Amino acid sequence: MKVAAVVLAAGRGKRMRSSVPKVLHRLAGRPMLIHVLDAVRQVADGPVVVVLGPGMEAARTLLPPDVAVAVQPEPLGTGHALTCALPHLEGSQGHILVVFGDTPLVRPQTLRALVWQHEREGNAATLVTAWMEDPTGYGRVVRGPCGTFARIVEEADASPELRAIREVAAGLCCFERGTLWSVLPEIRPDNVQGEYYLVDAFRILRERGHRVGILQVEEAMEVMGINSRKELAEAEAELRRRTLEDLMASGVTVVDPATTHVDPRARIGPDTVLLPFTVIEGETTVGSSCTIGPGAHLIAARVGDGVRIWWSVVEHSEIGDGSRVGPYSHLRPGCVLGRGVEVGNFAEMKNVRIGDRTKVHHVSYLGDATVGQDVNIGAGTVTCNLRYGVPGKQPTVIEDGAFIGSDTMLQAPVRVGAGAVTGAGAVVTKDLPPRAVAVGVPARVVRTTETKPEG
Ligand code: UD1
Ligand code: CA
Repeated sequence: MKVAAVVLAAGRGKRMRSSVPKVLHRLAGRPMLIHVLDAVRQVADGPVVVVLGPGMEAARTLLPPDVAVAVQPEPLGTGHALTCALPHLEGSQGHILVVFGDTPLVRPQTLRALVWQHEREGNAATLVTAWMEDPTGYGRVVRGPCGTFARIVEEADASPELRAIREVAAGLCCFERGTLWSVLPEIRPDNVQGEYYLVDAFRILRERGHRVGILQVEEAMEVMGINSRKELAEAEAELRRRTLEDLMASGVTVVDPATTHVDPRARIGPDTVLLPFTVIEGETTVGSSCTIGPGAHLIAARVGDGVRIWWSVVEHSEIGDGSRVGPYSHLRPGCVLGRGVEVGNFAEMKNVRIGDRTKVHHVSYLGDATVGQDVNIGAGTVTCNLRYGVPGKQPTVIEDGAFIGSDTMLQAPVRVGAGAVTGAGAVVTKDLPPRAVAVGVPARVVRTTETKPEG
């Protein structure tokens, strides 16, 4: 079975009161159009076309390369938008699935069920409906005798009696290829809004004696269309609830779902506990038996097993098994921490590799550095990686077992040899050999760790 798909996304979204096109507003960190496309692409095995409005270049750049773009020059209605996609479907076979770009909670299973029912019943068109407590804003589904489909009436055109109907059109439908081509030119803008309503296609088909099927979804929330910022927030809450429920079902403890936000793409291992005020963004992975939070913000991070992170930010970085980060640490992009590493209060780091069991505590900055295993970074240590008048950042290397005394300034490029020690307040301007003990400003080697202190 071949399925082509069209996503209608050219509407202005006036009710959002935004300079950003509606379908680019974000849910769980990603534009709602991308959520819709994710679901659609799991079902369509033929061409996928997105209909955009003029000036929606920003949307174009977000689309996967195999998605075609049709432009609807003016927002004349959903029926007109679909017509604009037809040239891209000329050579396609099979059924045509139509999805609205402002319906981001739709699940691929529902789209699949729609196509299956359409196929099984041999319909000319099949549409998805839902029963809503408050149907305001949606097209109402009018059924004829024996419950068969009759027509859809938009809210603006509906009489008070029709407005009382609680079964609504979801904006998801599937067409038999040939019928779509024949019916679209017959849609007329003879309604209160003067628009070409896609939903009129079903009435026209029905009047001509074609089969129009209905798939009613159980969970109305899944097909909610987002027209306003209020609905955007409701959809965000729903997506969050779903994601957290899936995580809990897979063995993750979520102590306070109300203050925990997890990107649906994140992967979290069993027996990990998410404490309140935790935000996990992007394609983050967290291993098992970790304690994340309170107050952890992870962005595209890779976290091993048994890790503890609290009141800290971790961006585009990796943390090895059994490490601890926080409170109040900031791992900026490019950090790779080994196993059993401790990163403590007010430690900032960027683009550093840290070996196993190394400790980085107390108000320190490490940037563009490679730090070995079992190193101790004293309070207030700074890698001075930017040299006045020299472009680019300079590297620091600290070898295994070194002991960096409190308030040491490492003036990069510089290397501290294995087992070397710096005294408190040292300013290291030259490489230190292994086991050197260096003190002062600028730091001088006074002995090696093998020689006994004098006196
Ligand atoms: C539409 C349906 C309504 C249904 C509801 C479900 C029509 C006429 N009405 O109403 O029956 O209950 O969705 O959410 O179809 N779009 C275009 N070009 C246009 C107009 C819209 O591409 O000229 C796109 C929008 O970007 C949006 C989608 O089509 O993604 C739906 O448009 P919208 O204006 O939100 O329709 P509703 O009034 O919600
Ligand atoms: Ca809508």
